[in-house]
Amino acid sequence: MQPKELKTIELEHLAIGGGVPVRTTPLPLEFPGMHYMDDEEVEAAVRVLKSRSLFRYYGIDLQREVDAFENEFAEFIGVKHALAVSSGSGALQTALSALGVGPGQEVIVPAYMWVAVIAAVVNLGAIPVLADIDESFTLNPTGVERRLTPRTKGIIAVHMSGAPANVPALLEIARKRELFFLEDCAQCAGGSIRGKKVGGFGDMGIFSFQMNKNMSSGEGGCVVTNDTRLYQRAVAAHDNGYARDETGRAIYDNLDLCLWGRGVRLDEVRGAILRVQLRKLSKIIAHMRRSKYRIRRALEEFPQVQLRHIVDPDGDTGAFLIITLGSGDEAKRISQALRAEGIATSPQGVTNVVMTDWGLHIYSNIVSLVNQTSTDGRGFPWNLAENRDSKLQYGKGTCPVADSLFERSILFAIPSCLSERDEDEIIHAFRKVFAH
Ligand SMILES: Cc1ncc(COP(=O)(O)O)c(C=O)c1O
Repeated sequence: MQPKELKTIELEHLAIGGGVPVRTTPLPLEFPGMHYMDDEEVEAAVRVLKSRSLFRYYGIDLQREVDAFENEFAEFIGVKHALAVSSGSGALQTALSALGVGPGQEVIVPAYMWVAVIAAVVNLGAIPVLADIDESFTLNPTGVERRLTPRTKGIIAVHMSGAPANVPALLEIARKRELFFLEDCAQCAGGSIRGKKVGGFGDMGIFSFQMNKNMSSGEGGCVVTNDTRLYQRAVAAHDNGYARDETGRAIYDNLDLCLWGRGVRLDEVRGAILRVQLRKLSKIIAHMRRSKYRIRRALEEFPQVQLRHIVDPDGDTGAFLIITLGSGDEAKRISQALRAEGIATSPQGVTNVVMTDWGLHIYSNIVSLVNQTSTDGRGFPWNLAENRDSKLQYGKGTCPVADSLFERSILFAIPSCLSERDEDEIIHAFRKVFAH
């Protein structure tokens, strides 16, 4: 079926005004990896269960699934080392521990991220410093430069909503100032810039394999690096505090590798599932990209719509589409009108959301950050003597470009199972709403 011509659509009444909606069934939920889950993952999980060896380091009949996954993932990303962990949050904490983050240090983070990025910095006693984003919805290099101080220790670039950040420019800043550069690829597994996979550009990269990620085992994560020392420190931090030699034995005679453990190991069942999901990742991405760019091309005919700037369209995983309108009111009206046309999921799901409502991805929605709350109730880490020169504000207004973009933009999830008919209907709904 071809989407209808604009002229015909102009005659249709909007559903929000009592007309017939384009769709009456909810759109499929996001969860890219999950739509591709089938007997292969079931068999992988059962194989491990039958081995009665669910722990990665020893067992009755150890299958070494986590080891195999790490090797396969490292090869896929193009890095020397991969360390599987139990979540993306765990991966962030592990990586920052390996990088030696602590009190007296500032870490630059984007205004658009996920709360776990901030939590990882704060939990280590360092100070998160928000930097503004640009139309790519990722860190603006100029915004980063404005936030540099003698206390800056590193930059966390977050490849948000499926598409890569402007890594070349950001990496240049990091290298010039001798800062660490950590890529958060939780929302962009399989994404790339000029043909090189995200995760392998900086000192370290992290991934999440939580339910709503490009590949998933429900929960899970990974830390990647080309630096063997950082890898060994990550091994120590993710486990019981101690790195391991090639035979698996703990290393006690190198104090640089004796840290404090976070206990975020990955188990064999999820290791086995992730090996299968990794083999499917390129298909999952190809599906989302096909759907997204078909819809994006259709939106190009509307001058009132500004499409998200994509740093490298060939490396976009396609998991989300973001459009920006002229004002916050217009964004709200368009979103509601599209919702009435059936561009929604139900009862769960987050497609067609004005970005100010996009929860803890938006810095000014993070109540604990805005109010600088602390786990100990006494102000940690903001109250530490080492942090006394880092007096920061986190409320709305801190990142004005981000504030304006969040208010005027609508985010759509692009499920990995959209049919051509779903796409036709989404395009039809957009045309109908914009024609009015
Ligand atoms: C950008 C980003 N970083 C980190 C995480 C944390 O991952 P997890 O939920 O696996 O802890 C997420 C998860 O949503 C994320 O979107």
